[in-house]
Amino acid sequence: MTSRKKAVVLISGSGSNLQAFIDHINDGQLELDITLVISNKPDAFGLERATKAGIETDCLNHKEFDSRLSFDHALMQRIDETHADIVILAGFMRILTAEFVNHYRGRLVNIHPSLLPKYPGVDTHQRAINAGDEWHGASIHFVVPEVDAGPIILQGQLKLTDNDTASSLQQRIHTIEHQLYPQALSWFSADRLTIKNNKVLLDGETSAKQLQTFEV
Ligand code: GRF
Repeated sequence: MTSRKKAVVLISGSGSNLQAFIDHINDGQLELDITLVISNKPDAFGLERATKAGIETDCLNHKEFDSRLSFDHALMQRIDETHADIVILAGFMRILTAEFVNHYRGRLVNIHPSLLPKYPGVDTHQRAINAGDEWHGASIHFVVPEVDAGPIILQGQLKLTDNDTASSLQQRIHTIEHQLYPQALSWFSADRLTIKNNKVLLDGETSAKQLQTFEV
């Protein structure tokens, strides 16, 4: 039997995705040990969620570092002390240096609230509304140095309604994120993911399971 994979989760805010991981682990739906949660903001609510779940936390305040690289070096050192198998970005609002990203290539994952490659960056919900899109969603992807790019593990989509605002869409997308991210992590944990020609394969092939449609 292979041992459970060890994860470090990086957050900056509410940590509702982190909570979804904790809940799925506690329910036995996700085999993963979150050994450390790190925030770059001291007041991130996600730190409280982690503490309540008995997970070690740390805060590396980016404002106390004189450069992006020195912050990333400290972050790498702290993560590597834990011998993490995977580093999970869950609402971590910092751009990471190429050195950091390359150090964790193939074991650094992120969630982005759009159907990438559509709408990298911010304001994704408003941009989808403005464009009159029929579908909007969230993507979980391996991280590469280019922001919000990288091979996509899993996407979830839902239909926009005439009444949707950026705020209602954000809430609807959040709901599906909480199902998608634990699912993607469970595939990683079970060694079911490979990257070939910049595409993520599930059990060795491109799978219909990697694009899921939700009605929420
Ligand atoms: C999510 O919407 C995610 O897509 C984005 O940041 C948000 C994090 O939310 N990258 P939370 O902190 O997990 O509640």
